[in-house]
Amino acid sequence: MDMPWARPLLDQAMALSLLSWRVHVFEPARALKRLGLYRAPTLGAALVPGVPGGGGPELSRRHREPVLLPGEPAGYHEVREFDRMAGVYEAVVRPFSEPIIDEVVALMQPLSPRARVLDPSAGPGEAALRLARLVPEGEVVAADLSRGMVETAWKVARQAGCHPNMAFFQADVGKPPEAFEGYFDAIVCCLSFHHYPDGEAAVRAFRRVLAPGGRVFVADGGPRWFVELARPISVLADPGFVRHRTGEEFLQLFTEAGFSTVSWTEVLPGMGVTIASV
Ligand SMILES: C[S@@+](CC[C@H](N)C(=O)[O-])C[C@H]1O[C@@H](n2cnc3c(N)ncnc32)[C@H](O)[C@@H]1O
Repeated sequence: MDMPWARPLLDQAMALSLLSWRVHVFEPARALKRLGLYRAPTLGAALVPGVPGGGGPELSRRHREPVLLPGEPAGYHEVREFDRMAGVYEAVVRPFSEPIIDEVVALMQPLSPRARVLDPSAGPGEAALRLARLVPEGEVVAADLSRGMVETAWKVARQAGCHPNMAFFQADVGKPPEAFEGYFDAIVCCLSFHHYPDGEAAVRAFRRVLAPGGRVFVADGGPRWFVELARPISVLADPGFVRHRTGEEFLQLFTEAGFSTVSWTEVLPGMGVTIASV
């Protein structure tokens, strides 16, 4: 929705909704989880956590600076708002994203320290940075279509001293650079899938960039009730929102793209993680 004059108000509405969800929904659910009382609904194949194997660092050795696309690629208008938000994004979204990233990181254990991990829509890089510390003999590639996000993630990683095993690429999730083909042991995609105009192309690209045995973890709003509940605020206040998908839709998408085992689990109320293996 194009309402530049209303942007500051919408940013605040979004920040408040996300914080409120953390306090009133995620925290009670996490307390129940710690007590063993939260039963996460699961669809598809039996859930197998972990990321085996690991190719070690290569792209992070070759590319010390962010690799940016020449000019403005097609479809850039979808992410222009993220350029503007790069500086304030953490303050708005972190209270909501932090517990979700905790859940994804838990599902990735055991994680090989030599793993090569791609975050195809890293934003300012919160998940990528955490993962870089968990794969000291591997690497994390933080990519994003928004140039502002890529540059912010790079600066944040440098300040945190994490850039030696990280590389930064500006890339459309559906059109990864050639160097990514068959390269990664894992893909971690948090809170971004609902922004992709062509989800099928994104999932096909996930499959192409994974090495044999590689696994993808996609965290996004998922059960039907959440899809319906979140739509009004997402249409109004989430820049570049396309649509959320149910667990069943995620299973179908990944299965049709040729992934061998696909499962979806509601790790926290309203939030699903799809895990699929090549
Ligand atoms: C809501 S943010 C999530 C950022 C981060 N993963 C997190 O959990 O905080 C969505 C991100 O998706 C990126 N994005 C949207 N469309 C994209 C595309 N076609 N290719 C790559 N990244 C895209 C945006 O630029 C933005 O940084």
